Amino acid sequence: MLQRRIMGRFATGVTVITTRHDETLWGMTANAVLSLSLDPPLMLVSIDRRSQIHEYIVKAQCFAVNILTAQQEHLSRRFAMRGPKAFSGIAMEISATGAPIFLESLAFVDCRLEQVVEGGDHDMMIGTIVAGAVRDGAPLLFYAGQYASLAPPASAHAPVEGSSIDACFDHYGSF
Ligand SMILES: Cc1cc2nc3c(=O)[nH]c(=O)nc-3n(C[C@H](O)[C@H](O)[C@H](O)COP(=O)(O)O)c2cc1C
Repeated sequence: MLQRRIMGRFATGVTVITTRHDETLWGMTANAVLSLSLDPPLMLVSIDRRSQIHEYIVKAQCFAVNILTAQQEHLSRRFAMRGPKAFSGIAMEISATGAPIFLESLAFVDCRLEQVVEGGDHDMMIGTIVAGAVRDGAPLLFYAGQYASLAPPASAHAPVEGSSIDACFDHYGSF
């Protein structure tokens, strides 16, 4: 499809969207992710209506966006497969909303679902950010249907406020 080929030239990072409904954890690789608003702090993820995570996010009313590092390509591949996902071998913590967050990801935001807006065969899930953190490292990239990586700029090595997983919980309401 030409749209896919054209938009494949738009280099992106790679995330795993996670959620938890009752005891069920679910995750899905996604790059249709954007920082929609700063005030209020809103995130938007575009989710295929046929994907199974869609119904779990609606039921759970929350999602987290885990931004992957260059070392986490295997997680992107794992969570891009249809069906139940194995969370084995991933260092995780349950965040404020109940969604699992990956402790070794480059950054994460934890969101409470606010709105679901139809967009053709996808739905835009809009969430208010209630927690988040950043860490040092190199991002995983996706370009023209392939994974790539980028050396981080020197400034990305400087310690960032809130870079520990504990610090993220201090950030409630202060994004
Ligand atoms: C790099 C990459 C980015 C993706 N981005 C999205 C996305 O933004 N939204 C989406 O609905 N699917 C996206 N997908 C496809 C889903 O990861 C895939 O359909 C997944 O199997 C759905 O899982 P589920 O149906 O078990 O929930 C992407 C896949 C890859 C490899």
